Amino acid sequence: MGIDRGEQEDYARPANPYEKLQVLEPKDRPFSPAERIRAMTPPLLSWYESHARILPWREQPEPYRVWISEIMLQQTRVEAVKPYFNRFMEELPDVGALAQVEEERLLKLWEGLGYYNRARNLKKAAQIMTETYGGCLPDSFEELKKLPGIGSYTAGAIASIAYNIPVPAVDGNVLRVISRVLASREDILKQSVKRRMEAYLKEAMPKDRASAFNQGLIETGAMVCVPNGEPKCGECPLASVCLGRRQGLLDTIPHKAPKKPRKVEERTVLLLEKGDRIALEKRPDKGLLASLYQFPNVEGILSEDDVRKTLALKGAQAEHIQPAGKARHVFSHVEWHMTGYRVWLKDFPAGQYLFVQRQELKEKYPVPNAFSVYIKLINGES
Ligand code: ADE
Repeated sequence: MGIDRGEQEDYARPANPYEKLQVLEPKDRPFSPAERIRAMTPPLLSWYESHARILPWREQPEPYRVWISEIMLQQTRVEAVKPYFNRFMEELPDVGALAQVEEERLLKLWEGLGYYNRARNLKKAAQIMTETYGGCLPDSFEELKKLPGIGSYTAGAIASIAYNIPVPAVDGNVLRVISRVLASREDILKQSVKRRMEAYLKEAMPKDRASAFNQGLIETGAMVCVPNGEPKCGECPLASVCLGRRQGLLDTIPHKAPKKPRKVEERTVLLLEKGDRIALEKRPDKGLLASLYQFPNVEGILSEDDVRKTLALKGAQAEHIQPAGKARHVFSHVEWHMTGYRVWLKDFPAGQYLFVQRQELKEKYPVPNAFSVYIKLINGES
């Protein structure tokens, strides 16, 4: 048994303090995948103890807080989540408050995070928790997984972080770390690959330190073994056990199957103003951005003249029209390429739109991020 020192010299400069915590690899054969994952544990735990970021949901890892943070973190980066999380906790501090919140208010609290069905599922799950679990989150992986919006990753994260139950929590970041450590070029989007990695992790995880183990992996994926750009192997607690690094494969792992190109939709967005009010309309209650509010918009790229004609059909007359620039928003399967016009109306057209004050736009109506460029424009922020 022993590390191959010659080989190590090539890839471990400057000295990485976590290497001394490593279980040594046999000289005559490489680790099996299960052994390699097991060998990660001591350096991973040690690194996490000294490198874990201080985050609001980590400081007080109550089940409700862990749940909300994990769902938010599926949408965006930690720094972007913090203000959303703090606002959410202030207004909806527990399961009972969430179960009772009005949907429109909930969507307003979620505004900008995207995937609004995740917010709706939070409320549905909170209602079930109220009816079935006495207003608490269940303290079992299996029971958690039955709730709307809670899949195996989220159930694992809540169970391990809030209750220290030894179950894995494998999301895309953890899959990246593990596939690099194992030098696995398998497609991480395949359920069979994920299940196998979960099995390795479940076996390797110290039964009394599930929270630190899972969060250590998540943190390594976020801070060191990063998704975009060069992984920071010089700081990585797993560097000496990482086969992907040793084999120079980090830029090709994880393997990503080519994505289908997104459909592009051209739309013309109309910022219809009258006095201090602006027109909104509610989106249909099914499909993309269901039940959110938006600026009126139509398919295609309209000229100023087309805009006048379109408005006339709605019984609206423009006093003045000004181009409001172009914007682009990328959803998972579609891209909107938007052309905007700012239109000052002569009158409020009867029964067509909801005309709201700027303050209401800010505080009351949930409008998706796709329109943020235009919101800034009418608020004089751009
Ligand atoms: N990303 C997903 N879950 C996370 C967590 N618990 N802490 C930090 N980043 C995360």
